[in-house]
Amino acid sequence: MKKLETRADIELMVNRFYDKVGSDDTIGFFFNDVAKVDWSKHLPKMYSFWETLLFGQISYKGNPMAVHFPINSEVAMEKRHFAHWVKLWTQTIEENFSGEMAEMAIYKATNIANLMGYKMETARKLT
Ligand code: HEM
Repeated sequence: MKKLETRADIELMVNRFYDKVGSDDTIGFFFNDVAKVDWSKHLPKMYSFWETLLFGQISYKGNPMAVHFPINSEVAMEKRHFAHWVKLWTQTIEENFSGEMAEMAIYKATNIANLMGYKMETARKLT
């Protein structure tokens, strides 16, 4: 299986992941119906986000947590949604890549998803 090592690999990983997400019964509606995501803008942002996290190429500037709060106040983003997000992400990586960077992509995403899940839950309790 291929190593995860280039920007093109990141693009493939992100495209395959959001292909799954977009048609997913558990979390697809957040993107399609709640946020009504413009995929042509979202996908390039996600390429840069992952390039920054994995390769240290500082191409993403933004606040990844912040964009999720308004979504969470429209429809609760629950722990089970994040667990499902991580499942789809892990599947996507394992279907396409192996090696240290692939493991790092799973590890970092899992940590961020856990933190995000916690922050969304806390935000709901405060409002
Ligand atoms: C159930 C889980 C999740 C859902 C439903 C979700 C949904 C979304 C949606 C709808 C957007 C687009 C917002 C917009 O442009 O209007 C977005 C943006 C984003 N998400 Fe998530 N997300 C989830 C988990 C995650 C996780 C775990 C990460 C990181 C590992 C992440 C990273 C990002 C980033 C970097 C952006 C772009 C932020 C920016 O505009 O700068 N998301 N998410």
